[in-house]
Order: sequence, then structure tokens, then C-alpha cells
Amino acid sequence: MITSTSNPFTMKRSKLSRRKFITNVSTGAAGALLSSQMPASGISSEGAASDLAINGGKPVRTNGWMKWPAWNSEAEKPMLEVLRSGDWFRMRGTEVDEFEKAYATLIGSKRVLATSSGTTALETALHVLGVDAGDEVIVSPYTFIATYNVVFNQKALPVFADTDQETFTINPHKIEEKITERTKAILPVHIFGLPADMDRIMAIAQQHNLLVIEDACQAWLAEYKDKMCGTIGDLGCFSFQNSKNIPAGEGGAVAGDDETIMDRCHSYHNCGRPYGKTGSEFTGYPFLGGNKRMMQFQAVILLSQLERVKKDAEKRLENALYLDSKLKNIPGVIPYKLTEGATKSAYHIYPFRYKKEHFDDLPRKKFLAALAAEGIPCSSGYEAQYNDGLMEEALNSRGFKRLFSEQRLNRYREELHELPDNDQLTREAVWFFQNMLLAERKDMDDIINAVQKVYDNRKQLL
Ligand SMILES: Cc1ncc(COP(=O)(O)O)c(C=O)c1O
Repeated sequence: MITSTSNPFTMKRSKLSRRKFITNVSTGAAGALLSSQMPASGISSEGAASDLAINGGKPVRTNGWMKWPAWNSEAEKPMLEVLRSGDWFRMRGTEVDEFEKAYATLIGSKRVLATSSGTTALETALHVLGVDAGDEVIVSPYTFIATYNVVFNQKALPVFADTDQETFTINPHKIEEKITERTKAILPVHIFGLPADMDRIMAIAQQHNLLVIEDACQAWLAEYKDKMCGTIGDLGCFSFQNSKNIPAGEGGAVAGDDETIMDRCHSYHNCGRPYGKTGSEFTGYPFLGGNKRMMQFQAVILLSQLERVKKDAEKRLENALYLDSKLKNIPGVIPYKLTEGATKSAYHIYPFRYKKEHFDDLPRKKFLAALAAEGIPCSSGYEAQYNDGLMEEALNSRGFKRLFSEQRLNRYREELHELPDNDQLTREAVWFFQNMLLAERKDMDDIINAVQKVYDNRKQLL
């Protein structure tokens, strides 16, 4: 809405550059008249005309964003029933079994095993597929720490292949140079729900006889060539942690089509007890294992979440495409690109790259602070692995020194600094959170307007 105080037609023209004038009127009737000339979409008239909020000006947005996690009230009754039944763990009650079937149907996988978290799903997949002490696993470096923690926990070495800056996912052209005689598996991550280049990854794996474990912990309903992420490799892993698009506080899943492997996954997550056909000749505990079971309460929440998941995913997709179409017009703002073959992204995060050279070298930190002050929550995201203390804890441990030569470990340390594209991405990434994408078109305009406002007024921050 153009108010009397902000109407550009009532403002002194001398106060406005041509660019600001055009962007200021991009909402409302005047905006419609000028829309063919607009460089980016609708900046609010109040926004660009005033100081940046970080300098005491009026923020673009004062409304908050949707609270997360959200849930359907239908979950409350079955939750109470489980509570009153006392059947809280998966060995009694049916909710976890039900969720596994429903999730398998949703993603088009023959089998799904529910686990206590995404981390335990990954641990189960690595163990059952035979990733063992002294092996190497090729991992995408642009990811949450759990992706490589689990490899270290198997006493194997997570070897990073550089990221493709445009897609935020592992660069398949950098994988083969990382393969050694110890390499056992590739662990691509569909980060933010942006599908990795699975055709190339599967082809490399086949050629070198490697396993593929998909980290789909942020990629529920993301699609690559119309197949769901997490159903393409040997096994796929999902997370249902509190912040996730399908949240249950904690929770995870392993998906796979091979009955024997999935039976073994079940055994492993249930203290090594026999399950299905595998091990049916045994009693007791024939296999290695641990307790990685999902609770019935988690499954109750998840079953109710499944009722909204498709609608939420469509909304996020619609809003993300709108942001793409507008943000790309702002100099220095480069939205993610989908890898060839990716047919749908899931948007756990909406990411773009911030090119400070277009902002008169304004550091990303100041850009983020200015954006946050305008009412747009944002983050700089993941850091490079050489900043992680856990690296040295693992590499210096007695176990790793026994399993790998000193020369290999030293080379490994050096290789952490040889990921130039990932390094640059960690310096330039900007994230918006998935709950923001569940809002309405006008709320997306707030995001666009705030970025445009910071761009237009960047000199105030220098
Ligand atoms: C990419 C990725 N992998 C693995 C995990 C681990 O999942 P969880 O937190 O459920 O253990 C997460 C969760 O944040 C993740 O984002």
C-alpha cells in the first residue's frame, strides 16, 4: 500500500535516485504502471525511503514468522492413548510399524526402518553396508557435522570431495580423484533438499565398485529424475529432528529396497536381535547392534505430520520459485541452481550466494545483521571442516593412528584446505529457513524488499 507519507509521488524527487524511485513504487497501482521497468520486485515504499533498520530506520517487516514445529491437533488423541497404554517403545504397540509403511509408500521405497535420529539412521546404513575401521568414505563437505561424524564413529575416514558452488552439492567431477584402495562408499548429501547429481555419482560408484549411501536428512520428497531422494543409492537416510520439514523432536529413517539388507538394518538398530528372514535360524543376539529404536510417541507425531507434508512441500516450492525469480535480479545475489536431472527440491533451507563485490565489499556479516534488523531471519550457515575441533580429536586418536599411516593422516589434514569451492561457499552462503517459505506471497515480498533495501542503502553500512 502506498501511504500519504511514503507515496513516491508526494515525495521530493531530489531525495530519490531513479532506481529507488522505480523500486519504491513497485507495489500498488503505481507499481503496476511501472512494472515493465522494474529491476527487482516490489520494494515497499517505506523501506527504501527510510534508513536501514539497523541504523534506526523502520524495518521492512515487524510481523514474526510461522512458529516451528507445527503439528495437527489430530495428533493429540493418539498421543494420549499411547501414553495411557504404557506401550511406549517399539517392541510393544504398532505406531512405529505404521509409520514405516506410510513413509515407504510416500517415498516409493520397498522398505523403511524408523530410527531414533538421522544420525543413528546413517550409522545403521554404514554398519550394515560394511563400512569398517580403516575404510574411507567420500563425503560432501557442505553439510551438517553428523554426515561425517558418523564416518569417524565407524573408525573410517570421511574424505571430502569439493562442492559445486552453484548447486551446493558434491561436485561429481571431484570424486574420482579422491578414490583410494581403501574407499568403500560415497556419501552424497542432498543438502537443503537440493538433489545431488545422482546419475554421475551412481555411475562412478558402479565403475569403482563402491556403495552409495544418500544423506537425505534434509530431503524429504525431493526428486531426482522423478525418483525420491533417498531411494536411489544402496540406502538412504532421513532425519525428523525438531527443525526439519517433517519434525518429531527426534527421529530418523533408513530406506532401501533390498529385503536382506533392510532385515539386517532392523537387527542392528534393535541390539542385534534376529529380524525377518535374516537370522531367523538364530535365537538371542546373533548380530552386532545397538539401541537405535524410534519411540511410539515419535511415530504418532510423524503419522500426523504426514498428513500435511505434501501441502507444505508444495507451498515451499511455490514460494522458493518466486524468490528465485525475483532475488536473482538483485546484483550480488545468486540463488542456488538445481543440478541437471533434479526434478524437485525440498527446501529445508532457501540458500543463495552473497557476492560482496556487488555490495561495495560490505562483509557478509554486516549484510546478514542488516537483513535480520529488517525482520528477515537469516544465517551464514556451515563452516569449513578445518575449523572443526573434532577433526584433530579423531586424527590424533590411538585408533586412527593404528588404522592409517602417519603419511595418510598428514595428507588428509592438507586436503581439508584443498576445497576451494567449498571454502568460498562457506564464505558467501546466506540461508533463509524453511518455515519462512510456508508464508504467503506478500511475506516473500518482504524478503525480497529487505534484500533490495539493504542493497540500495549499502553505503549506510560501510
Ligand atoms: C545433512 C544432515 N545429515 C544428518 C543429520 C543428522 O540428523 P539428526 O539430527 O536427526 O541426528 C542432519 C540433521 O540435522 C542433517 O542436516
